[in-house]
Amino acid sequence: MKELYIIANWKANKTEQEAIDWLEKFASATFPAGVFEHKEVILCPPSTVFPQLKQSIRQKNVPITLGAQDISQFGRGAYTGEIPAALLREYASYVIIGHSERKTYFNESDETAREKVGMAVGAGISPVFCVQSQDTPVPNDVWLVAYEPVSAIGTGNPDTPENANEVARKIKQANKSVKHVLYGGSVNSENVKTFTSMESIDGVLVGGTSLDAGEFCTLIQHA
Ligand code: PGA
Repeated sequence: MKELYIIANWKANKTEQEAIDWLEKFASATFPAGVFEHKEVILCPPSTVFPQLKQSIRQKNVPITLGAQDISQFGRGAYTGEIPAALLREYASYVIIGHSERKTYFNESDETAREKVGMAVGAGISPVFCVQSQDTPVPNDVWLVAYEPVSAIGTGNPDTPENANEVARKIKQANKSVKHVLYGGSVNSENVKTFTSMESIDGVLVGGTSLDAGEFCTLIQHA
């Protein structure tokens, strides 16, 4: 059975209390035996709730690994507002890099994304490198890629599983370091299996659907 990566991207959502409520709901959900044997569930919350979530995940022994939504391209120092790798690594084992929202709203370039990959890898944090098409360049050292066509993000209009599979196959073929390609964009508990059952797709990156703990638990079971 292939290993599936299921990544929740909360984006700019959830207060501390909301995050704790979500985690408690997740922790008390009943899953069929063995559900997590071949599934790595990664939660990328806003950085403000990292300490609380880290503590609760440990205390309740919840099968979730924390990831970050972004990382600074700079190191420690006088970079107001930034969170560098050295600080993130206390909480995050993964980091999303190159999301199309970073490119659209923050003018992030492919070059900046490349620098961020270098920072993450240097600190032992695995980049989840987002590409908007098979033509987006993937830096060396990236083993986990998320294919997220812009037209599918938050629109309720996902790519077809067949096309996503073809793009995933081509990304792996063109980038030897890439071991796993995920699909992201309007994934929900009803369509998740149509993507994860595709040969070249190794999981999903989930935005909107991940905000509701119950929905997200159902999605994990259906994946
Ligand atoms: P969505 O977002 O699931 O809300 O479409 C996916 C993403 O942006 O990662």
